[in-house]
Amino acid sequence: MIELAFSILASDFAHLADEVAAAERGGGTIVHVDVMDGHFVPNITFGPPMVKALRPITKLPLDCHLMIEDPDAFIPAFAEAGADMISVQQEACRHLHRTLQQIVVHGMLPGVVINPATPVETLIEVLPMVHYVLVMSVNPGFGGQQFLPLAVDKIAHLVELREHMGLNFRIEVDGGVAHDTVASVVQAGADMLVAGSAIFEKGRAEQNAVEFLRTARAAVSKS
Ligand code: DX5
Ligand code: ZN
Repeated sequence: MIELAFSILASDFAHLADEVAAAERGGGTIVHVDVMDGHFVPNITFGPPMVKALRPITKLPLDCHLMIEDPDAFIPAFAEAGADMISVQQEACRHLHRTLQQIVVHGMLPGVVINPATPVETLIEVLPMVHYVLVMSVNPGFGGQQFLPLAVDKIAHLVELREHMGLNFRIEVDGGVAHDTVASVVQAGADMLVAGSAIFEKGRAEQNAVEFLRTARAAVSKS
C-alpha cells in the first residue's frame, strides 16, 4: 500500500496543527518528523518536545527520522513523547543492531536509514529486524533539495533482497520526492513516500497531498 509520510519540516510552524490537519485531509497517513542535531547533519531542527506537541493533535503514526549522533541516548525520550516509529542512520550508529533492539524494547517500530553514499549491502545483517528501510534520495540536512536518481536502483535492490531473504520490511524514500520524481521511486518498489516541499508549498497542503498521491498511485498501476 502506497502511503504519504508528510515531512513537517517544510510546513508553516506557526500554524503546525492546521498544516498537519490539511495534509491528513489530503490523504497523508504518516507524520514524518525530521530530527537534526547540528552534528550528524549541518542543521538543527527539533526533538522530543515537538513529538509531544504533535501527539494530541493527530492520531496518525509519528515517524521520527533521527539525523543525530548517538541516537541511543534519545530513544527513551522519543518513546515517552509518543513516537510510533523511529529510524536511525546506519552511519550514526556504532552498534546498529543494539540501537534497533532498543527501539523495539521501547515499544516503537524500528527503521534504518542509508545516505546516498552508503551501499544497501551494509544493511544485510539487520534487515530481518527492521520494520522499514529508509533510502535517502538527498544528503540529509535540508528540505527542498534535488532528488538523486541513484536512490532508484537502491530501492530496486532492496526489493530483490527482501524477496531473496523472505522478509517483509517496507521501503521508505526521502528527499526531493515530488510530482516529477515520485513515479520512479514507486515503480522501483518504495511504498512509504516522504515529501516535505511538495506537500507544504504555497500553503495548500490538502490539495498538494491529493495530487501527489494521485500521481504516485497512477505509477503503481503502470508498474
Ligand atoms: C532531509 C529530510 C527530509 C526532508 C524532505 O534531510 O530527511 O525528510 O524534509 O524534504 P523535501 O521533500 O522538501 O525534499
Ligand atoms: Zn526525513
